[in-house]
Amino acid sequence: MAKTVIGVVALLVLMIEGFQADIGTTKNLQEIVIGRCYNYIRTINPSIGRNDCNDIWLRFLDAFLGKDPCDVPVRDYDQLFSTVQQTIPCNKVLLWSKTRDIVQSYSAVTHRFMTLDDTFIGYLFNALTWCGKKSKRELDYNSCPDWSTCENQPVASFWKKASEYFAESACGDVTVMLNGSIYNAFSNTSMLRSVEVQHLDPRKVSQVDIIVINSLRGPIRESCNSGSIVELIQILKHQGFRWTCTDNDKSLIILQCVRDPNHPSCKICNSMRC
Ligand SMILES: *[C@@H]1O[C@H](CO)[C@@H](O)[C@H](O)[C@H]1NC(C)=O
Ligand SMILES: *[C@@H]1O[C@H](CO)[C@@H](O)[C@H](O)[C@H]1NC(C)=O
Repeated sequence: MAKTVIGVVALLVLMIEGFQADIGTTKNLQEIVIGRCYNYIRTINPSIGRNDCNDIWLRFLDAFLGKDPCDVPVRDYDQLFSTVQQTIPCNKVLLWSKTRDIVQSYSAVTHRFMTLDDTFIGYLFNALTWCGKKSKRELDYNSCPDWSTCENQPVASFWKKASEYFAESACGDVTVMLNGSIYNAFSNTSMLRSVEVQHLDPRKVSQVDIIVINSLRGPIRESCNSGSIVELIQILKHQGFRWTCTDNDKSLIILQCVRDPNHPSCKICNSMRC
């Protein structure tokens, strides 16, 4: 009887732990990455030049296979990033924080900008998870540590490296889109603040254009003149960048109206007979 109870309790504990366990490496990771690689170089951006998809995959694995999944520092991806060849065009780099949805729609509609997810390396690994095992050169499909549990988590280190690379490659005008409907829009813990802004090169970047986007239904928490966005402007000034800052950009209001056409800000037809 006691044994059965212990057995049942143990089973329950296992089930609960099972439900709470961190997710492991994305299934079919290799097929996804290699497939995306050929898709990018053959159809999305054939002008990208020479890239060897199998070589990229092997360099990627070398960064973290056989290592403790909490001990993959950013520099372990150096080899991978030196293998990937892409020239980032000037005046197109778009950095953002807490505005992912609208940035993706904006970039898809206008084709004016390039986000990290549009770059070759960002496209290859976007929304995927991976980690290895300490003693064996194999992927761990059962569980990977969460981003927050250890500093040198393999996926976090990869995105730090990718953010450094992207910011360092930026030239000409750089655009930054921030969310004015939240406090701490330029958060200390964001990739934008902790990595990207620090890696912009004042010799290559001529100007930084900040655009503050408010959700149509508010609230308004920060603007070009208030909150953490002012800190961003101070940092840019200190580093010697020219900068601009825009609140309430018209095209970003109109873009939000596609999802919420009855909102008062969206009544563009008042003066027209439509
Ligand atoms: C701003 O952040 C809030 C909270 O995360 C989110 O609901 C909203 O969609 C964001 N606004 C924009 C314009 O991205
Ligand atoms: C962010 O960091 C800056 C400088 O390191 C500090 O002055 C500020 O108080 C921090 N803000 C928050 C919200 O932690």
